[in-house]
Amino acid sequence: PTPENTSGSGRDARGARTTTKLAIVGAGAVGATLAYAALARGAARTVALMDVNRAKVEAEVLDLRHGGMFIPQAEIEGSDDVEVCRGADVVAVTAGAKQEPGQSRLDLAEATVALTRKILPGLVEVAPDAVFLMVTNPVDVVTYAAQQVSGLPHERVLGSGTVLDSSRLRDSVARHCGVAVGNVHANIAGEHGDSEIVLWSSATIAGVPLLDWRPFRGHEPLDAAARERIASDVVTSAYRVIAGKGATNYAVGLAATRIIEAILNDEHRVMSVSSRLDGFYGISDVCLSVPSLVDRRGVAETIDTPLSDDEVAGLRASARSMREVQARLGI
Ligand code: LAC
Repeated sequence: PTPENTSGSGRDARGARTTTKLAIVGAGAVGATLAYAALARGAARTVALMDVNRAKVEAEVLDLRHGGMFIPQAEIEGSDDVEVCRGADVVAVTAGAKQEPGQSRLDLAEATVALTRKILPGLVEVAPDAVFLMVTNPVDVVTYAAQQVSGLPHERVLGSGTVLDSSRLRDSVARHCGVAVGNVHANIAGEHGDSEIVLWSSATIAGVPLLDWRPFRGHEPLDAAARERIASDVVTSAYRVIAGKGATNYAVGLAATRIIEAILNDEHRVMSVSSRLDGFYGISDVCLSVPSLVDRRGVAETIDTPLSDDEVAGLRASARSMREVQARLGI
């Protein structure tokens, strides 16, 4: 039987008051992992999964429900009907073409922008007050297209952007230096893709400017060569994971979950999400990731992060790359 659909009622099957609702569009590797991560972390009281493949989405919902005893109380719903997203506070869109081995994220642009344009109006209709988090790649161009077709305020349509890449960067720096990843504050900016850049000049390790870091005994210095290697590893991470297992899902599912928590809990958390820039270092009319304030409104502000001349040049090159794709697709 189709799982009960109590969407939008504000109450669960037992009549208890539900609070936050997360709708996830797309029950593929990323969408299913996002649902799992959100439930395991208790990110939302109701998690609704939608996919055109009814058998798949119902199976994912059953499998998730079967873990119900081990996670914070939650309503788990699923359907091939957009109705299951009704009344969502956050709609996360993961549906779209998958990056095949050797393919760049930008190679997916035509198909996923077309899909975005097709599904967004129906989602906005059932969840008009939601914050929309685009995860589908190429996420910056998809976010731009979603803002256009949704007609929603730009702040309410954001992309997961380089939050995932910043996590990859912090993990690499932490392991190189022998510190906990939580002690590393460093961000990737620009495209979530080949033209992304590392903001080394504003990075810190335990409050120490990263560029002044003195290595612990037995650790290599974080010199230019090491930084170049780390930057290259971050940019190529996804290609290596895709070559080995066919897709990436765990880290992007966790990154999207963290963004969703910042929205649902109104955390005012600074994250490198993708948003429509409006004059950031002279860059406008394109979606890119820069450190930004994430709260219940979506992306409320960008942070005036100091950038080196090289970083500004890299960000502008990333903007040009996005605009070229936007022009090619006529968006
Ligand atoms: C990655 C995909 C989500 O970087 O673009 O893993």
